[in-house]
Amino acid sequence: MARKGIILAGGSGTRLYPVTTGVSKQLLPIYDKPMIYYPLSVLMLSGIREIAVITTPTDQDQFKRTLGDGSQWGLSLTYIEQPSPDGLAQAYLLARDFLNGAPSAMVLGDNIFFGHGLPSVLAVADAKTDGGTVFGYRVTDPERYGVVDFEQDGSVRAIVEKPEIAPSQYAVTGLYYLDGTAPDRAAAVAPSPRGELEITSLLESYLADGALTVERMGRGYAWLDTGTHESLLDAGNFVRTLTQRQGLQVGSPDEIAFELGWIGEAELSARADLFGKSGYGRYLASLLKG
Ligand code: G1P
Repeated sequence: MARKGIILAGGSGTRLYPVTTGVSKQLLPIYDKPMIYYPLSVLMLSGIREIAVITTPTDQDQFKRTLGDGSQWGLSLTYIEQPSPDGLAQAYLLARDFLNGAPSAMVLGDNIFFGHGLPSVLAVADAKTDGGTVFGYRVTDPERYGVVDFEQDGSVRAIVEKPEIAPSQYAVTGLYYLDGTAPDRAAAVAPSPRGELEITSLLESYLADGALTVERMGRGYAWLDTGTHESLLDAGNFVRTLTQRQGLQVGSPDEIAFELGWIGEAELSARADLFGKSGYGRYLASLLKG
């Protein structure tokens, strides 16, 4: 069964702007394109074409206007409402019908990944049809995340959500490759003291069955988050630096769809026209010239 994708773009925007402002964080620009293009690109690089976008009910219209039905990229996008943000594991309950037993890759709508070897790392995770794979990334502030607790021999003892004292420097990134049992396992998760169905509890269920792989994403990768105004600006500057220096795009669904043959020249040309004379539009037009 082909792996399906989930982008969780629920209520976490509240940490940057109050919900009442109507600003969906995941649609804010990271340099030259909407934030959600980056996690979407990760799923596409993994070869996934059937994707559910989970948003709050009020945000859904904005996401639909931004992403449409996905056909411009050869994708099929489904929109699912998350009435209240009750934790990341809730996504698997909301997406149960969409998944229909298929394995999935879920990415958080505000997580940005970059690295030359990313497609092969994703391919390894994708190839594992039973159990789950998550990625450990070394950060200076692990307390802000789910943190991996390693045994002496490097195997995983536990994953701890936002610990006061972090058992390691390795945060669990917001990219989860889980098998078809995820919705059933999520249904068995009890709410945490902060009232959320924690993704770490779901991962613990896999871990207890010896079915969780934690891949370390090493030095050559960037995992950026946008949970603070500072990190939001940093992410934009990072993309700007790379893009301007190399003249190559980071996180462009248009380029990826074209490279993978999911759209042809006519479709790419239409997209280039849509973006007009902006740097992004000119870049897409340049791909057509080869
Ligand atoms: C969530 C997860 C956490 C994970 C992080 C990645 O945290 O609960 O385990 O490390 O995403 O971005 P939140 O963004 O809800 O604080």
